[in-house]
Amino acid sequence: MPDRIKKIGVLTSGGDSPGMNAALRSVVRTCAYHNIICVGIYRGYQGMIEGDFKEMNARSVNNIINKGGTILKSARSTEFRTREGREKAYDNLKAEGIDAFVVIGGDGSFTGAMIFSEEYSFPVMGIPGTIDNDIFGTNFTLGFDTALNTVVDAIDKIRDTASSHNRLFFVEVMGRDVGHIALNAGVGAGAEEILIPEEDLGLERLLDSLKRSKRSGKSSSIVVVAEGDKIGKNVFELKEYVEENLLDYDVRVSVLGHMQRGGTPSCFDRVLASRMGVKAVESIIEGSTNYMVGVIDDKMVLTPLEKAIKGHTKIDVELLRVSDIMTT
Ligand code: F6P
Repeated sequence: MPDRIKKIGVLTSGGDSPGMNAALRSVVRTCAYHNIICVGIYRGYQGMIEGDFKEMNARSVNNIINKGGTILKSARSTEFRTREGREKAYDNLKAEGIDAFVVIGGDGSFTGAMIFSEEYSFPVMGIPGTIDNDIFGTNFTLGFDTALNTVVDAIDKIRDTASSHNRLFFVEVMGRDVGHIALNAGVGAGAEEILIPEEDLGLERLLDSLKRSKRSGKSSSIVVVAEGDKIGKNVFELKEYVEENLLDYDVRVSVLGHMQRGGTPSCFDRVLASRMGVKAVESIIEGSTNYMVGVIDDKMVLTPLEKAIKGHTKIDVELLRVSDIMTT
């Protein structure tokens, strides 16, 4: 760690999420506030390898707090996974006089940061930016709240057409390994069933539940399915299965896809991003490295990157129970 931090780099990496721009704005302005030069690193680690740098000042981040995506661009760099790639990145950082960097991204981006930091004793700090909310050490990742609102809004619209035609809809939402989006948006949108990677509901239970819904007088239904659902069937296979086994159901599928990652960040994500950016820069100034900033019980905290990557976020079992009760 240098005696005094004079220049901090900042990059966004991996899948983008709403709130990344707000976090960038916060990092840049906190640097300006503490008289530290801030350098934007474009296109994630790939830009670091190629020296795609641009100095940023408080005015470079005007009017981005409300913008989805990331003005720094993002990438998943395979070259950074190699020793040669990381060496090029290190040489560029040194040539630019960058003393530390803040990476805004998910667990893959943090793994890269951790390896790099250990190899070159280079100070790094992570800000969790992913809609999946699957990072240990924070109650909320940037973009999760916005994505939930996007999904709920989409399902509300699907419900209108489902109910007009007495149809059953399988709605697939993002979440390759975790069901936080499916569970929370499912409860928020009043889904009849929610299928998540953490729980194997079983196809029989799904059929029983749909039959029960029909008997209880429901004419249309929404089933929210996380991409990585444990039943092992994708939404199209689920549609076929239900059509074969419940003949009186007219079934449709809607895959929400990448629209869940876009859009204007919610107020919650903007505030969280602003707090995380300040905490990240000030923690570097105080001499912390190899941590991720997070919010737990509304307090800003630091978690070692290694723990953030390896720790597992747990599904909220009480919320699962709430969902069961709501589908009565
Ligand atoms: O941002 C995380 C995530 O949304 C996952 O839920 C999803 O599986 C993945 O990104 C898809 O990302 P990409 O299409 O960029 O590979």
